Amino acid sequence: MRSLFLLQLLASAALLSPPRVHAAPPAYETRAEHDPNGIGKFYLGREIAQVMGHQAAGWLERPEREAEERTDLLVEAMQLKQGEIVADIGAGSGYFCWRMAKAVAPEGKIYGVDIQPEMLELLQRNMSRRGVSNVISVLGTTTDPKLPADSIDTILMVDVYHEFDQPYEMAKAMVSALKKGGRFVLVEYRREDPKVQIKRVHTMSETQAKAEFTLFPELRWETTLTPLPQQHILIFRKH
Ligand SMILES: C[S@@+](CC[C@H](N)C(=O)[O-])C[C@H]1O[C@@H](n2cnc3c(N)ncnc32)[C@H](O)[C@@H]1O
Repeated sequence: MRSLFLLQLLASAALLSPPRVHAAPPAYETRAEHDPNGIGKFYLGREIAQVMGHQAAGWLERPEREAEERTDLLVEAMQLKQGEIVADIGAGSGYFCWRMAKAVAPEGKIYGVDIQPEMLELLQRNMSRRGVSNVISVLGTTTDPKLPADSIDTILMVDVYHEFDQPYEMAKAMVSALKKGGRFVLVEYRREDPKVQIKRVHTMSETQAKAEFTLFPELRWETTLTPLPQQHILIFRKH
């Protein structure tokens, strides 16, 4: 009698609880005809760009970059707080790492993640040259930034997300590395702005970026900031 009652209780609980829906990830598509600067692989209609090789790292560190891209305004717009834990994904030579490291010091730290060991060597050299000790370099893979789960307050991506050749897998792994309440700061050249003269596959529209990030039920678009001459800054928060 008692076990029958328990069975009925379990059955009604199962009926009351909503079904667990696991949406299938969007499929990648390959096309023979494609942009010469792309890899011929498409994600939600967007062609993925070729990765910038470490041989071009000098371009990231060019002296005129600050004036051209107003990278100072980008760091200001992030409103970093002392003690924050930040991950700079696709950190390259560490252009943003040391600038952010100053803002979160002394307790805060920056993980500089990249898939090219040569970039990380440059990054480490640049940090020691500047006497910066709160930047940790991390060798990631194309599907995993190798960050501890629920540990990051802010994930920054500057001109890199459009290069991820496994964007769904990367975004999924980054979502799990973010703390609840943490945010993505996505910086991409504005595709919809005719004044921006950058190769098409190295740009992203706001609509496309929102479609790719809000696929993840944990993420909500919060705002899009446009203080920069060529890029937009999209903020997504983990709820
Ligand atoms: C155009 S550079 C930008 C570097 C840096 N964010 C900056 O603005 O100075 C893009 C970098 O992203 C890295 N990258 C590409 N795919 C990656 C991935 N899946 N995970 C981590 N880094 C990646 C590349 O190796 C390259 O160093």
